[in-house]
Amino acid sequence: MKLAERLALAALHRLDPERAHGLSLAALRMGLAPAPGPYTTARLATSLAGMALPNPVGLAAGFDKNAESLPALMAAGFGWLEVGAATPLPQPGNPKPRLFRLTKDHAAINRFGFNNQGMEAIAGRLATRPPTGVPVGLNLGANKTSADRAQDFARVLARCGPFADFATVNVSSPNTEKLRDLQGPAALTTLLAGVMEVREQLPVQIPIFLKIAPDLSPDDLAQIAEIALASGLSGIIATNTTLARDGLQSRHKVESGGLSGAPLFEKSTRILAQLSQFTNGKIPLIGVGGITTAEQAYAKIQAGAAAVQLYTAMVYHGLSLVSKIARELDALLERDGHTTITAAIGTKRDLWL
Ligand code: FNR
Repeated sequence: MKLAERLALAALHRLDPERAHGLSLAALRMGLAPAPGPYTTARLATSLAGMALPNPVGLAAGFDKNAESLPALMAAGFGWLEVGAATPLPQPGNPKPRLFRLTKDHAAINRFGFNNQGMEAIAGRLATRPPTGVPVGLNLGANKTSADRAQDFARVLARCGPFADFATVNVSSPNTEKLRDLQGPAALTTLLAGVMEVREQLPVQIPIFLKIAPDLSPDDLAQIAEIALASGLSGIIATNTTLARDGLQSRHKVESGGLSGAPLFEKSTRILAQLSQFTNGKIPLIGVGGITTAEQAYAKIQAGAAAVQLYTAMVYHGLSLVSKIARELDALLERDGHTTITAAIGTKRDLWL
């Protein structure tokens, strides 16, 4: 991390976390962030559900909920980006405060509740983003007051799908009451059928991913894997934030919401490995949760991920972390004699089972 980035982070950490986040997005829009472009090598360039990624390190959903800072994020070093969650109608989300830094734990707790400007505004920004080789996808959400939440996912896909490189069905946010119930077998089957029907109508059949919670039993996971395979999904993202609060030290540990960052790493990687066992290479998996180092990104790949995403570590280490992880991941692959990411996928899965 350069001195300027270190000073900027120190200043941001003196502010309320949601305000600091807003300022970070504004700084990105003003061109104040590093813009090295995606770090890429023959080893790092890879294909994910048919999308060409310059490197496998992606931005996780929730950082740029309204797709407001796309040009800067596309140049920041990521190999791919997920923005959103977008819901059909704009909604304010839960009352503030709703984002907490757990500095001692290198973690965060959020209970935003899908605050976003709605699919119309977001579709416009996706449509006008610059053409670069960095795929951009959209996290789909449901309005809190919707009479038919399952239908909301399909509506956002129908509106924004023509301008996205992929879309993610997010039934794993803990901050919209009863949303996670949509992970149950009957509800999930119906929801995915509706989404896949809309996908058929899109000009391009973009990949559809499902994002799952880390708080699932092996039986739940086995069932979700079966449904995902049967419904023709393109991949599964594991995982969203957790409701667990094990081993935390920060005073904000008592806040309700989803926990992300360092304490989520092991739990989400175990879920990923189990899912890898259940899906057995039939669809790609994306590993997310607590990645702070290249070693951890590599561990997710070795546990079964074809690509990774991160969010919370940037709060503590800045945006330069992204290129650092990509560069060091390349060195780790070379050290182990892998000429592609694909060669490393799942090679140490058993360590996590
Ligand atoms: C998130 N995350 C998230 N996920 C999602 O699918 N839709 C969303 O809208 C959001 N919103 C959101 C807001 C905030 C403030 C945070 C910290 C996280 C979850 C995120 O994409 C990721 O799955 C987890 O944060 C775990 O990864 P990290 O942060 O430990 O790298």
